[in-house]
Amino acid sequence: MPADTNPQGDIFGGWLMSQVDIAGSILAVQRAQGRVATVAVHEFRFWQPVYVGDLVSCYAELAHTGRTSVRIKVEVYSERERDPASVRQVATASITYVAVDENSRPRLLPG
Ligand SMILES: CC(C)(COP(=O)(O)OP(=O)(O)OC[C@H]1O[C@@H](n2cnc3c(N)ncnc32)[C@H](O)[C@@H]1OP(=O)(O)O)[C@@H](O)C(=O)NCCC(=O)NCCS
Repeated sequence: MPADTNPQGDIFGGWLMSQVDIAGSILAVQRAQGRVATVAVHEFRFWQPVYVGDLVSCYAELAHTGRTSVRIKVEVYSERERDPASVRQVATASITYVAVDENSRPRLLPG
């Protein structure tokens, strides 16, 4: 949306980062079967700009499982003007989430 643009009129990188954090956290919550906290962003690469009106899709996969943490890889794709032929990868990220208890302290992952 226009409110998410930087002064050049492209989508602000911080907006995309928050969407990626949300996408990754959904998978992390599923694996942790409960609350998680983002502890580290290891990589965030913007390959192409995203423009107002683009349809952005985030795909998350589990890259590593630790004792209390999971590292999630997220790939971001953008489609322009409802044209499936325009779909291109615009960003990739690697984020670690920690399963936390009711006191916001790390807890062991189930299973
Ligand atoms: C997340 C939090 C509860 C972790 O507590 P902590 O005492 O620092 O965590 P620990 O040192 O015990 O590490 C917990 C896990 O995180 C991993 N971890 C910690 N820092 C890491 C880093 N920089 N990179 C990768 N993994 C990391 C540890 O390896 C460990 O994983 P494992 O149990 O699977 O081996 C705490 O750091 C916190 O509350 N941070 C703020 C979270 C937050 O508010 N995020 C949103 C920001 S707006």
